[in-house]
Amino acid sequence: MAPFAGSGANPLRDPADRRLPRIAGPSGLVIFGVTGDLSRKKLMPAVYDLANRGLLPPGFSLVGFARREWQHEDFAAEVHDAVKEHARTPFREEVWQQLIQGMRFVQGTFDDDDAFERLRGTIEELDKAQGTGGNFAFYLSVPPRSFPVVIQQLKKHGLADQSSGSWRRAVIEKPFGHDLKSAEELNKVVHEVFAPDQVFRIDHYLGKETVQNILALRFANTMFEPIWNRSFVDHIQITMAEDIGIGGRAGYYDGIGAARDVIQNHLLQLMALMAMEEPASFDADALAAEKTKVLGAVRLPKDLGLATVRGQYAAGWQGGEKAVGYLQEEGIDAKSKTDTYAAIKLEVDNRRWAGVPFYLRTGKRLGRRVTEIAVVFQRAPHSPFDHTATEELGKNAIVIRVQPDEGVTVRFGSKVPGTSMEIRDVSMDFAYGESFTESSPEAYERLILDVLLGDSNLFPRTEEVELSWQILDPIEQYWDKNGKPAQYQSGTWGPVEADEMLERDGRSWRRP
Ligand code: BG6
Repeated sequence: MAPFAGSGANPLRDPADRRLPRIAGPSGLVIFGVTGDLSRKKLMPAVYDLANRGLLPPGFSLVGFARREWQHEDFAAEVHDAVKEHARTPFREEVWQQLIQGMRFVQGTFDDDDAFERLRGTIEELDKAQGTGGNFAFYLSVPPRSFPVVIQQLKKHGLADQSSGSWRRAVIEKPFGHDLKSAEELNKVVHEVFAPDQVFRIDHYLGKETVQNILALRFANTMFEPIWNRSFVDHIQITMAEDIGIGGRAGYYDGIGAARDVIQNHLLQLMALMAMEEPASFDADALAAEKTKVLGAVRLPKDLGLATVRGQYAAGWQGGEKAVGYLQEEGIDAKSKTDTYAAIKLEVDNRRWAGVPFYLRTGKRLGRRVTEIAVVFQRAPHSPFDHTATEELGKNAIVIRVQPDEGVTVRFGSKVPGTSMEIRDVSMDFAYGESFTESSPEAYERLILDVLLGDSNLFPRTEEVELSWQILDPIEQYWDKNGKPAQYQSGTWGPVEADEMLERDGRSWRRP
């Protein structure tokens, strides 16, 4: 079989890039929950983009499993539409024609034994027709309540079995549990069937270029690490703001809320990457060991009433349009106490970070979509200038702009040109778009490729997931018992209580 049209002289590759491309070996991907939003908007386009970049093997196969009464052609038509609408790279007919050869659809429900037998048959057929070599990853893009049944069915029908020298892997989407107890139960179910190195838990933030760049910034340079500690850093702020509301996701979101949806995974992972020690190597075990140590050293302030804030969006204006409040969204109980905004303060109890607060916040329907991490430094211990000269000087900061407008900004003081000594903040910028010609791959491209390659660096381990719940559980329990989320107007920067939380510490949130 001919290689994918994208391989070889790949027009999408930067000619200056001399690294060998990491190309997956013979394999296929089975998606459970293939009719869902994630699959349409992210997974199917990512598979196409990988094929287009020449990173998939020639006979790569994509199998959809769902209840829908589809034939193979209907599934292929769905993938086609999803790719046309959401793929990052241009549509190329020759790539598509090759990809479509390996597309199959299996109709059934998760408890349907016959359907899983048909899936087994489909995989065997693909091994013969497409040369997939028995190597398949099963992507569970399904509600958490369905994880156990799908995992059990994979076992029962011999689909998790790697005895023939092939590999089988399970890819599990978040949320991984609802609290520590449910996460432990889920882990037990998963590990009864799959060995740890067969399990890939998705936290798509780890697949983002800018997030991986945190490690490069810290450990490939000499100038940042010496100041990356309590002697110089005043505090660290991590913001993940979204301008969208919950859209059509009421069923998923209500009862989960912002802290479980985003802080438990994405933001605690970002915090771990910012705070961890340098790993001995960049391999999965060494990285996980350092992240685990940091998560294990996180301490919550005693008074959670002062160190956490939750909010819920009320009606307002967003991008010039009227936005309804959370409680008026379709499918939301008018008495819901679910948080659509959460801000928490944490400390990391170790020699490097003792006494340095980490402030994490996230919210829907905020001023604009932006994710950034700001390391804010202490003021100079002594200033030889007049007080008036530095009146307008803020604290130095290094800001990692995760998205959009990816890059890094360094903020520092500079003399304002003129006859008097006046010092003000200026900034120095690195922007991906200006320094690199190739656009960044989508997180899911990177992560799906890593699954097919068996590379687990960017996937949180059992311990990390459980430690993250251990951090969040007391907060959720405190919120359950105490009051309701504060209301904030859509299109603003969240509840005033969150501003007050930082004001009490003599600090303020950045307005990105
Ligand atoms: C998901 C959350 O994990 O991340 C969503 O479940 C959120 O609620 C999304 O909208 C944001 O991802 P990104 O990559 O657009 O920042």
